[in-house]
Amino acid sequence: MSIKILGTGSALPVRRVMNEEIVRMVDTSDEWIRERTGIGGRHVSVGETAASLAADACSRALEDAGKTAEEVELLLVATCSPDEVAPCTACRVQDRIGAGNAVAFDLNAACAGFLFALHTAWAYVEAGIYQNALIAGSEVLSKLVDWEDRGTCILFGDGAGAVYVEKCQEGGILGFVQHADGKKGGVLAGGGRQLVSPWAGRQDFRRFLQMDGREVFAFAVRQVPLNVEEALSGAGLTVGDVDLFVLHQANRRIIEGVAKRLGAELSRFPMNLEHVGNTSSAAIPLLLDELNRQGRLKRGMRLVLSGFGAGLTCGACVMQW
Ligand code: COA
Repeated sequence: MSIKILGTGSALPVRRVMNEEIVRMVDTSDEWIRERTGIGGRHVSVGETAASLAADACSRALEDAGKTAEEVELLLVATCSPDEVAPCTACRVQDRIGAGNAVAFDLNAACAGFLFALHTAWAYVEAGIYQNALIAGSEVLSKLVDWEDRGTCILFGDGAGAVYVEKCQEGGILGFVQHADGKKGGVLAGGGRQLVSPWAGRQDFRRFLQMDGREVFAFAVRQVPLNVEEALSGAGLTVGDVDLFVLHQANRRIIEGVAKRLGAELSRFPMNLEHVGNTSSAAIPLLLDELNRQGRLKRGMRLVLSGFGAGLTCGACVMQW
């Protein structure tokens, strides 16, 4: 028994911010950003929220699967940029789309969040608790990014992606791995607020995301191939058996490095970071939805999804579409 993706959806804020606009804000250039990251533009929220984007993506995923919101049993939202601490984004989404029969909660594993949520849904279905799940990755990282820091503001974008999954007897998820290394938490951290109470006084946490870009880069190029091979070996498959590698869209050079280490042609690594940037937990479902709507995903194809992010967290999932 496993779970299979039966529908995908996505949503992006209307406002696009091209590199040329960022060049007017920090000391950088379109050539530098494109050459070092592969990113040409990103979407930035001007009113859309993590909940509204997730709800739109979820509605589209349900429509694609031919299901209604009332049928959903488990609703998970992966996000590290929720609109508010409580209630969770998933409950806001549940209300917006009318998924009144679903249990709903959030999960934060940063850019690996969607994968971890997918694996969580798998575990619930495998345990016989639920038969289906609606899973979104949704981020409005633009509110956590320091728009004066050229090392980070060029990278991130806002958006959401979602999938509807259902219990299946054949195919679906064939194997997965997930890891976390809290010792490396400081490599990519921040986005906190102030602690204010009569006892603590006023203490400032890191307001914006801060990152050691080189460390994250090295971690990703080293760890993603290991995760992919570990997940493939658990499924009794090899790199040669995979049709498409749907990787977290952080940096074109990271994806090229992973492809090289795996000995796989780059043509098997679809990318959309050129126009959406790094959308954190939304990146993998956003790309899946693009591929699905382009008709590039055929039933029976073997896919590997792999993500990494703050935590540090990382994982990979092998599935038959
Ligand atoms: N424009 C122009 N110059 C920039 C720049 C920018 N936007 N950002 C950094 N630089 C400069 C640096 O200050 C440095 O200058 P120096 O040599 O005078 O000190 C130089 O470019 C090289 O910096 P470096 O950090 O080595 O560049 P890089 O090739 O590693 O690229 C990143 C920087 C951030 C693009 C790259 O490290 C990266 O993508 N890392 C992974 C980040 C990531 O994916 N995070 C999310 C994980 S989910």
